[in-house]
Amino acid sequence: MKFSTAFSLLNFLLLLPLLLAMAVSALRVSGFASVRDSRPTMAAGKRLLLQAPFEFEEATVAGIQAAFKGGSLTSYQLVQHYLNQITALNPKLNAVIEVNPDALAAASQADRRRSSAGGPIGPFDGIPVLVKDSISTRDKLNTTAGSLALLGSVVPRDAGVIKRLRDAGAVILGKASMSEWDHFRSLLPPQGWSPRGGQGKNPYPGTENPCGTSSGSAIAVAANLVAVSLGTDLDGAISCPAAFNSVVGIKPTVGLTSRSGIMPISPRLDTVGPMARTVADAAALLDVIAGIDPLDKGATEAAAKFIPNGGFLKYLNVEGLNGKRIGILRHPFVDQFLPGSLEEETFAGHFRLMSLPPPVPPSRFALHLPSQLPPPPWPSLLLFWQKGAIVFDNVELKNANIMLNQTESGETITLLAEFKLSLNSYLKDLVSSPVRSLADVIAFNNQNPTEERMKEFGQIIFLASEKTNGIGAAEKNAMSKMVQLRKEGIEDLMKEKSLDALIFSEGSAAHLMALGGYPIVSVPAGYSKSGSPFGISFAGLLGSDAKLIEIAYAFEQATKIRKSPPHA
Ligand SMILES: *[C@@H]1O[C@H](CO)[C@@H](O)[C@H](O)[C@H]1NC(C)=O
Ligand SMILES: *[C@@H]1O[C@H](CO)[C@@H](O)[C@H](O)[C@H]1NC(C)=O
Repeated sequence: MKFSTAFSLLNFLLLLPLLLAMAVSALRVSGFASVRDSRPTMAAGKRLLLQAPFEFEEATVAGIQAAFKGGSLTSYQLVQHYLNQITALNPKLNAVIEVNPDALAAASQADRRRSSAGGPIGPFDGIPVLVKDSISTRDKLNTTAGSLALLGSVVPRDAGVIKRLRDAGAVILGKASMSEWDHFRSLLPPQGWSPRGGQGKNPYPGTENPCGTSSGSAIAVAANLVAVSLGTDLDGAISCPAAFNSVVGIKPTVGLTSRSGIMPISPRLDTVGPMARTVADAAALLDVIAGIDPLDKGATEAAAKFIPNGGFLKYLNVEGLNGKRIGILRHPFVDQFLPGSLEEETFAGHFRLMSLPPPVPPSRFALHLPSQLPPPPWPSLLLFWQKGAIVFDNVELKNANIMLNQTESGETITLLAEFKLSLNSYLKDLVSSPVRSLADVIAFNNQNPTEERMKEFGQIIFLASEKTNGIGAAEKNAMSKMVQLRKEGIEDLMKEKSLDALIFSEGSAAHLMALGGYPIVSVPAGYSKSGSPFGISFAGLLGSDAKLIEIAYAFEQATKIRKSPPHA
């Protein structure tokens, strides 16, 4: 035996255990693949040796984009996965009213585009998005605001935000359930209920209430039926379901996103916004849908100046709380929690955390002060060096009680008049429809009392709205009153203390922020003893969306609270 042969043999013997271990792990991986992949071929096993299987649970937009690029996931597989999830979980959750029969075909098209020379047509190419049932899509999907009255109607065109989604390559996955007519038919139906969608259910333990009105959009994202969705908001319709279902919701400044093709309540206050599991995903979706739309010209042109150069994604800054001036709306919002309760203690912890230095990457030079400084106010020189937010506890809104009472603030009288006008013009614009006016919808409900559960819920708001006669002197007075209330109550306070944001819990102060169409970003804040989620909302003046995203992202990264709901 030659020396060299002996050496290789020795080498081989020494390496044998290692080679065996590799072979065993290869078998394990292909066995694992056969469970996940349902195609237990050698080829699949070999590929998975090189590439980890895509983790669908809690998938993010950036993760999906990277997997598309790396070849470990196709849009077709992703859409198929979400359709399977909907088939399995929707009978219990009622988050989705309809799935798009063309979603898989659109996904295949996106896959072909990606592998062709041209490449993806936009940042959302092949990414499925679920949209609220009040957002028009000119495809096989119905657009009904949850009501049977609009079933079979034909919308004239895609809503402005849908056009932007399609231009960016997104796949419209289906229609999310919602509170019927944005809960504007009657005060009595539970949030998340509609005749077409049934009762939407919170996927977390502790409560079945998903809040509303963008209930299905929140439930679906929370339960991993889709990664991102669109909701609409007027006074808490995004921030409240976001909080209840432990997802992120952005209610953009009115006009930042087009309202054309949206079943309306008030052109002064309606807005369309993203819901997602992370602030980054919500910001990515906002980047796609924000912008000027000739069909919602006045509002979108006025708000276009609030879209930052380079987009909202640029504001994902882990140090985004540093130096921000934040006011806590304690009364009557955060202090609704019982003293000593888990919720109260969690919020107290969040407020302490926000005024502490967040972790700074080691490569960065930063001057740190000890974290156990006394709470603000400190001498202004210290504030200059402090890393963290400057928190003003218990700021008081002038006339908060009047602003919260929709009758007294003037909101009720104006919304009733605006709803009739804007709904009638929305219904007239449809290509075909069984109902063409609010009066028709009222008659439809009377003719279908069982399905519309008229005995239980009635339609008191519809009837009051139908009695109105346009915007007259009383409505104009109410509008000026709201302008004055929000100026004295919100704007003066924020300007006087140079506040960047106000903080409150869940949707509690959303009515206040509705008075001026102000933006709100809502982020998961914790879970009660029974496991039901609660959220924290950051609100600001018109156009502060980018700043709120920056603050919300820093808070989210420092706390990482969201977890997916327990599986049934
Ligand atoms: C839309 O509604 C009609 C009933 O009018 C129904 O036949 C159709 O399947 C619905 N579309 C989808 C995509 O579910
Ligand atoms: C709101 O204001 C109206 C009119 O002043 C009053 O009748 C009603 O009781 C108030 N509602 C609440 C909840 O305070």
